[in-house]
Amino acid sequence: AVNDSEVTPFSVPSYACQRRSTLENHNAVLTDALSLLAEKAELSDEDGRGVAFRRAAAVLKALPSAVTKMSQLTGLPCLGEHSLRVIKDILENGASSEVESTKESERFKALKVLTGIFGVGSKTADRWIREGIHNLQQLRDSGQTLNRAQQAGLEHYDDIKQPVSLAEAEAIRGIVGKAVASVSSEAQIVLTGGFRRGKLTGHDVDFLITHPEEGSEVGLMPKLVSWLESRGLLLYQKTTRNSYLECSEGPGRPPSNIDRFERCLSIFKLSAGQTGSGVQSEETAASPSATERQWRAVRVDLVVSPISQFAFALLGWTGSKLFERELRRWAGHEKGMSLSSHALYDSKQVNGSKGSASAMEEKRSKLISCHVLQGRYIRASSEEEIFAHLGLEFIPPTERNA
Ligand code: CTP
Ligand code: MN
Ligand code: MN
Ligand code: MN
Repeated sequence: AVNDSEVTPFSVPSYACQRRSTLENHNAVLTDALSLLAEKAELSDEDGRGVAFRRAAAVLKALPSAVTKMSQLTGLPCLGEHSLRVIKDILENGASSEVESTKESERFKALKVLTGIFGVGSKTADRWIREGIHNLQQLRDSGQTLNRAQQAGLEHYDDIKQPVSLAEAEAIRGIVGKAVASVSSEAQIVLTGGFRRGKLTGHDVDFLITHPEEGSEVGLMPKLVSWLESRGLLLYQKTTRNSYLECSEGPGRPPSNIDRFERCLSIFKLSAGQTGSGVQSEETAASPSATERQWRAVRVDLVVSPISQFAFALLGWTGSKLFERELRRWAGHEKGMSLSSHALYDSKQVNGSKGSASAMEEKRSKLISCHVLQGRYIRASSEEEIFAHLGLEFIPPTERNA
């Protein structure tokens, strides 16, 4: 055994967007535990705590080998007292009591089941739990009023909780690609989200669609949805139109983190024939009916972006969610810039002055920027350019799995 004084502590940069996070992870036991606590916090509306656990997990994911001693963690960023306690518990006892009791908790189990229904968030789930609803049967029996998304979510629950395979994602890529080509000969489509990061499974399939001629992307989404609907390929869809230009903030306001692209959240009807092989193997079938009916429901997200914002949209919709959050934090805290899925805004270039603005100056410029354009928007036509503007080394999609 190596004695503590010989242990070399690991070292990683503070922000996840400065690190290369591949899918392989040498500390899965620890990161699973921290991710579960993050999930518990997020389901309890404690977002700050959730992010803290996500950041801690991401630091461990970035380590080149397994952690065996607490002393190896000395000096690592983002590891708070609570996360360190959980790690210590696991290293010393093989498990974390907090994680184990969370897994057993009726409330946590109910929150997971209910928020697993498409269209149900933690607030709704919490209200139902307070009304004594802990599972799907109780929800069905309760006579609760469900909106259209929740009805579809409940109906296709077993299919949607089943991970989407890469083969299924590629099959859907083929169908949506054909639909896009049919409504516009020049429109382009890319697979984003987890599959672009090299994941072999996902909870949904994400696509970004654009047109090489600015403005020609307008009207694409309704045509695309009609094409798919007329062929019976959509079990559910809800389209939200683009609201970027109508936002009350006006063009002089730095972009907010919420993106306003035209989007379509849908549930696809994927036939067995379309994936080449069967939809599900006998072993993984969620229910006998799932194999008998020769199709399955798959969650699909479609987003349309104008070409001028495409690089930002691509970066923003590739994820991971933590990687995106860290990019925005880096931009804001380290560069005096504001990054969204629409644009990069340099708020420190006030009246041509260079160098980083003081917190006071930044606050002041934010206050008056509703009326006067203080900073400037930075154009970019590729992800590489955006990283360069942010002063970051380019991290390819497969290494954004923070
Ligand atoms: N996203 C977003 N706005 C939303 C929803 C998602 O900008 N309202 C972005 C997320 O930040 C993420 C990407 O879309 O970068 C994909 O989100 P999601 O499909 O939820 O996650 P994945 O990383 O694709 O993971 P999974 O494989 O589970 O789908
Ligand atoms: Mn790694
Ligand atoms: Mn996804
Ligand atoms: Mn998605």
